[in-house]
Amino acid sequence: MKKIIALLILLTALTLTACSGGAPAQPTPTPDPFIVKGQQVFNARCATCHALVPDTIIIGPSLAGLATTAETRVSGQTAEEYILLSIMRPGEYVVEGFNNVMITNFAMELTNEDMNALVAFLLTLK
Ligand code: HEC
Repeated sequence: MKKIIALLILLTALTLTACSGGAPAQPTPTPDPFIVKGQQVFNARCATCHALVPDTIIIGPSLAGLATTAETRVSGQTAEEYILLSIMRPGEYVVEGFNNVMITNFAMELTNEDMNALVAFLLTLK
């Protein structure tokens, strides 16, 4: 009997150390708080018109894969520059098949930090 109890204790201890210990097997990496903030800005200001699911048009185009498409949208512009300009001056490049109805005063409404977080979030949409 004592043996069984000792075994149980040992097993519990092993399981506990397996769960709490060390680097391996972390299923969900802790999200970067800056990116999380950017996603919150997106949800509050952009999600009314933009889906993050591919091929889904709300009013604007889906932004799924934006970080990749943004690389080649306008020659000479990096993905980051294109995304920033798309928000600050949406009329400058209008996606084919869409009207230029995107709100143009985000630059004034969003703080610099919100804007940077938003762009950082959008750059994760590869
Ligand atoms: C009133 C609806 C509306 C809102 C709100 C809106 N957009 Fe848009 N957006 C559009 C439309 C329509 C287009 C396509 C026409 C164009 O390129 O301007 C577009 C285009 C874009 C593009 C270019 C996409 C591409 O494939 O090249 C980006 C990036 C973008 N929007 C980001 C944003 C972000 C970020 C926000 C929030 C700060 C936002 N939009 C808010 C309607 C909207």
